[in-house]
Amino acid sequence: EHVLLLGPPGAGKGTQSKRLATEFDLEHVTTGDALRANKHVETEHGTPASFMDAGELVPDPVVNEIVKTALEDADGYVLDGYPRNLSQVEYLDSVTDLDYVFYLAVPEDELVNRLTGRRVCPDCGANYHVEFNQPEEEGVCDECGADLVQRDDDTEETVRERLRVYHENTEPVVEHYREKGTLVEVEGEGTPDDVFERIASEVRD
Ligand code: AP5
Ligand code: ZN
Repeated sequence: EHVLLLGPPGAGKGTQSKRLATEFDLEHVTTGDALRANKHVETEHGTPASFMDAGELVPDPVVNEIVKTALEDADGYVLDGYPRNLSQVEYLDSVTDLDYVFYLAVPEDELVNRLTGRRVCPDCGANYHVEFNQPEEEGVCDECGADLVQRDDDTEETVRERLRVYHENTEPVVEHYREKGTLVEVEGEGTPDDVFERIASEVRD
């Protein structure tokens, strides 16, 4: 299966993609994680960090290359964080086809709360929230025991800029799939389990 998860920053794309990957035995392809793993590697366009920490998009050639390589190795996949503008849509169409396009809908003030309260595991990538998704022991990863950290781009100022960039560049992507008739809109509020069930029931059919 080829699954695409769209949604604004904080909608739960990472949380749900990981679960879908496990449940349906898919590769989790995420440009955000791939870029974070190489944040300080110099490219001819600059380092990913110089864009990410400001909340801006990393240039298309860098991101397209990541996706191309990842999809070559994947049979089934769930794609998270890409495409983020119409030129990336065009590139994606040239390298693969999609079976499902989900859009996670969450109101804007909820997004800001989710992102500013997010804590992540620097070792295994697990995701938590200080209020909505707490680990067993405060500040410690359930999966691997590492100390949790806040992402550099989860400050309120950068979150606002990421939302602005989303409205300007990525909303047209959502509209593109809506017009094509392939978009399945999923209510992104409720517990992560609730949201997962909404998505998984469509894939199981
Ligand atoms: P990326 O890493 O893709 O970040 P994002 O799109 O902003 O999305 P997030 O990871 O912040 O949120 P999410 O939707 O995955 O939510 P999550 O599950 O974590 O991109 C980062 C940067 O990389 C970009 O700004 C850009 O610079 C660059 N980049 C990446 N891809 C690019 C591309 N294609 N082109 C160019 N540049 C690119 O959940 C958020 C929080 O909410 C967590 O704390 C979680 O525990 C909690 N939560 C989840 N579900 C629920 C729920 N149901 N109820 C309550 N809380 C919940
Ligand atoms: Zn961990």
